[in-house]
Amino acid sequence: RVLHGVIPAAGIGTRMGSEIPKQYLRLLGRTLLEHSLHAMLRVPGMQSVTLALHPEDTTAAGLDILGDARVNTVAGGAERVDSVQAALRAVPGTRDDWVLVHDAARPCLQQDDVMRLVDVVLTQGEGAILALPVVDTVKLADAQGKALRTLDRNRLWRAQTPQMFRLGELLDALESAQAAGATVTDEASAMEHAGYPVHLVPGAASNLKVTVPEDLQLAEWYLSRQGE
Ligand code: C5P
Repeated sequence: RVLHGVIPAAGIGTRMGSEIPKQYLRLLGRTLLEHSLHAMLRVPGMQSVTLALHPEDTTAAGLDILGDARVNTVAGGAERVDSVQAALRAVPGTRDDWVLVHDAARPCLQQDDVMRLVDVVLTQGEGAILALPVVDTVKLADAQGKALRTLDRNRLWRAQTPQMFRLGELLDALESAQAAGATVTDEASAMEHAGYPVHLVPGAASNLKVTVPEDLQLAEWYLSRQGE
């Protein structure tokens, strides 16, 4: 099988409140980006991983793992979706190849979770994402923060990454969703918009997206337990 990876890592991490963009914060001595990239390179069949980096990024060049012959870099864009599109266009593959898009900010991705995702996609022949069932009761609010109604949590999922689709279909879906002005905060939203099935594969809480400072300690704890 032929798999490709894309890692958007061009964000500036404003919610983190640190000087360093979050993908370059270190956990157990390695940057978040290195942890995420390493997890992708370990997936059997992974032929290439394309990173979208900030145009002014000077940190990536100093990371040993970028010396892996399978790793390519491109300049990212203003929004996550722009970065993903730029990277997808640079993937050295064909339209029918499968691509896994994974956030640099999810450094604790575990191999058994990726493998479950890959198995579902290759068995079904359709795209899928890792996702977690919602455990809290979820409110829809108005702009003033007043609850309008309560959503049925039995049908709500939190989307994670990796998100795995065919390269050509994903590129087309992202373009048409953007042209239609749809909100595209993940790849699956563009695929849904284009009418493709998106399977939800139960992921793990450990695959958190490092967003605010307190996430760092939790992520480090998960990483320290990996391989135990
Ligand atoms: O900001 P958020 O947490 O949604 O970012 C998710 C991922 O997208 C991060 O790995 C971040 O570096 C990346 N990103 C990007 N280009 C942007 C904004 C975010 O590659 N313009």
